[in-house]
Amino acid sequence: MIFKLESVNLVYDIGKEAQTYALKDINLSLDGNRFIGIMGPSGSGKSSLLYTMAGFKIPTSGKVCYGEIDYDEISSSKRAEIRRKDFGFIFQRHFLIDYMTVMENILVPINDDGREVKIKAMSILNKLELLNLADKKPYQLSGGQRQKVAIARALIGDPKVIFADEPTAALDHNSAIEVMRFLENYKRDKMIVVVTHDPCILQNANHIINMLDGTIASIDKDRGGI
Ligand SMILES: Nc1ncnc2c1ncn2[C@@H]1O[C@H](COP(=O)(O)OP(=O)(O)OP(=O)(O)O)[C@@H](O)[C@H]1O
Ligand SMILES: [Mg+2]
Repeated sequence: MIFKLESVNLVYDIGKEAQTYALKDINLSLDGNRFIGIMGPSGSGKSSLLYTMAGFKIPTSGKVCYGEIDYDEISSSKRAEIRRKDFGFIFQRHFLIDYMTVMENILVPINDDGREVKIKAMSILNKLELLNLADKKPYQLSGGQRQKVAIARALIGDPKVIFADEPTAALDHNSAIEVMRFLENYKRDKMIVVVTHDPCILQNANHIINMLDGTIASIDKDRGGI
């Protein structure tokens, strides 16, 4: 089991009159090497679930374990170290640095620009069909290409889990489908967790978690996505 959440509540504005249960009594066990989709309306707790799994948010009550590690029992710097070593992140906005080349952007998370990592980055760029863009700057790329560079940046540290929060929300339909095609390729040797409003991009997800008002309304399991 790679993630286990037990009776997780995440409450905002504790002590104030109006409290928000971003997550309400969540129980969830997830194995790795799968593509997991998280769907649901705005405000239903999708991002809260993702950032709780990634150890960014510590629940108000309940327990979140990554493998054998209970996030609540380790320091925040230890949690940051886990994220650096084991997790990759992709967001709605690419957050690429405009004055750096594609190659330099990809190497940012690992803080190393030696020959070996450059070869590794080249191989990732090749798989994403971006090899000819290594020396371009982000503003010279299309939106879909920029998100693919964000995927490459998430992959450079060999993460065990990739968390993506609305990775295609800023893209047109065709670019969204293409970006997902590349991301999905990694589901056999990593866990891919994708939050989205758009069911089209979850066609090949193994499980889809449907969120509603901070709870898991249902899980579509073993959809047999290719
Ligand atoms: N920092 C915060 N302070 C107070 N309330 C918050 C905070 N972050 C989120 N919330 C509330 O928690 C609930 C769940 O938010 P969350 O961002 O997880 O939803 P979401 O499903 O990702 O929505 P969206 O699709 O709009 O991104 C919402 O009601 C939101 O208003
Ligand atoms: Mg969100």
